[in-house]
Amino acid sequence: MDKIFISSLQDKQAVASTFLVKNKVILRDKKGKNYLSFILSDASGEVDAKAWDNVDSMEGLFQSGDIVWVKGLVQVYQSRKQVIVHKVERFDGPVDLKDFIKSSDQKPEDNLQQLLQIVESLKNNYLKQLILDVLNDPTIKPLLLVAPAAKSIHHAKFGGLLEHILSVSRLAQMIAPNYAKLNLDLLIYGAIFHDIGKVWELKIDDGGIQYTDKGRLLGHMMMAVELVERKASRIFNFPEDLKDICKHMILSHHGKLEYGSPKLPQTLEAYVLWMLDEMDSKVDSIQAAMSINNGENWSQYSTLFERHFYIKESQWDS
Ligand SMILES: [Fe+2]
Ligand SMILES: [Fe+2]
Repeated sequence: MDKIFISSLQDKQAVASTFLVKNKVILRDKKGKNYLSFILSDASGEVDAKAWDNVDSMEGLFQSGDIVWVKGLVQVYQSRKQVIVHKVERFDGPVDLKDFIKSSDQKPEDNLQQLLQIVESLKNNYLKQLILDVLNDPTIKPLLLVAPAAKSIHHAKFGGLLEHILSVSRLAQMIAPNYAKLNLDLLIYGAIFHDIGKVWELKIDDGGIQYTDKGRLLGHMMMAVELVERKASRIFNFPEDLKDICKHMILSHHGKLEYGSPKLPQTLEAYVLWMLDEMDSKVDSIQAAMSINNGENWSQYSTLFERHFYIKESQWDS
């Protein structure tokens, strides 16, 4: 049976296909009757789903994070597509995860090549060696080529972490020459290492992008700091204060204590890294929101940004 992708769904279309379930809840309608509300997702997007009938028997058949086989009908309600589900059951057959989770539009191998070229241009041999030892580590490299940068907010896709790392590195290359005191090598190091712990913090399986146990217990910052300690200690004469500065950039890159950083950015490069990381993740999230086009001038409401974005194609931009 061929997979039907969410981006291709049309009003009144009968659907029989596999999807990944998110956010399943039982709600009550105005008449007090229970119904199931959930999101169906795949590599092409997401769509709301509702099941009005047989709720009690259907409820236990599947959970959020399951891949399910769904039979239903597409309806447009208040300008939004939704699937009215008639039948749903867990799908335990073999699946290609790339059908259900987005992949980076860029080739991860190409991104890694471009990143290595940037690293080649660094002047500080300690930082250069540290970065190369990590990027060429045979246990890290295969993880880096597939890792997402987040569970859902930004670059949440196969190869998303590498896309984010390369993008922040390029921003660093653009910004650093503009300021006399900004150290490009440190900024590039920060671009590559700040989220590298995500290769262990997140995993992609048939439940979608998930936190690992290690990720929940330690978090990506802690694991990246351990990585710096491990790799730098093998580099002859690696300066102790440089090691501390490297660790500080990781520990402070969320910028604020309430965003999970145990330290506030206290070097110029750590502060700028925070801003570049913010910029890259926010721009990616806005672009993703803008790419879901229901033929309206405005994006769907973004809970992250608490607003709609204006997405009307400009007539004057040519
Ligand atoms: Fe982070
Ligand atoms: Fe980041």
